[in-house]
Amino acid sequence: MKHLLSIGDLTRDSAVDLLDEADRFKAALLGREVRKLPTLRGRTVMTVFFENSTRTRASFEVAGKWMSADVINVSAGTSSVRKGESLRDTAATLHAIGADALIVRHPASGAPRQVARWTAEMAHDGVAPAVINAGDGTHEHPTQALLDALTLRDRLGGFEGRRVGIVGDIVHSRVARSNALLLTMLGAEVVLIAPPTLMPLGADGWGVTVAHDLDSELPGLDAVMMLRVQAERMRGGFFPSAREYAIRYGLSETRRRMLPEHAVILHPGPMLRGMEIGYSVADSPQAAPLQQVANGVHVRMAVLFRLLVGEQADG
Ligand code: CP
Repeated sequence: MKHLLSIGDLTRDSAVDLLDEADRFKAALLGREVRKLPTLRGRTVMTVFFENSTRTRASFEVAGKWMSADVINVSAGTSSVRKGESLRDTAATLHAIGADALIVRHPASGAPRQVARWTAEMAHDGVAPAVINAGDGTHEHPTQALLDALTLRDRLGGFEGRRVGIVGDIVHSRVARSNALLLTMLGAEVVLIAPPTLMPLGADGWGVTVAHDLDSELPGLDAVMMLRVQAERMRGGFFPSAREYAIRYGLSETRRRMLPEHAVILHPGPMLRGMEIGYSVADSPQAAPLQQVANGVHVRMAVLFRLLVGEQADG
């Protein structure tokens, strides 16, 4: 694996290997006063973010630093992108400075793949940086899906025979697409639950079930993943209204009680409490958003390790 641009870059075995590697990093760091491994000493990792982020950018930075990489953060708002520099010239510049990995978030679907193509063309002595998709438009967010899968494996023990509901703004969600691909690859059943206006056309061709009535699905789920409503990607407002959405699709305390007791509640964050998830539901013992965030560091360590050190190396 040269890059991680999509869940399609993984096989079932390589996905499980990344989850196992993440667990090994978690175990290696557990209880350590000094969280520093020499794994990526001398390597330079750059985050290049053209959209806002708290979790993804910070956890990639921590992942790199805990493995002793030099980590540089470039954000569109404070870079020469604001002066009109193109994505291609930005990538070429960071490549020339010496990036071993470029972690790219961009509002345009496919931008990280294009960066990988450009940097391959510009390779110095045949060496080009590994490119990791940190979320591109409405396309994919593969490391988010991996950390969600790790959290589900922690809580449920595995994926076979498990039914996972992904709820809400599916049409704008790169998280939904990456999770649908990964969780079905790992053996789970996935049901996408949304109002028809927020369900992508052709979603039933993703190897998942499509549903519109949240209440009838909840009792049969082992996990429910609530998605953020992405107002920034809706130019003309959205239908249903925010109020109607919260009433029909928000995970209220009443709806939480309709889930089986063992069911896990996931949210990729940032959460809009009171809209897609109730205030108390987000803090309930069934809810795993902070476990997801913590697992994100270990998953991103595993991805950086596999891309920069190699397939055969043992963490
Ligand atoms: N889940 C996620 O991508 O969060 P951020 O936008 O804060 O990175």
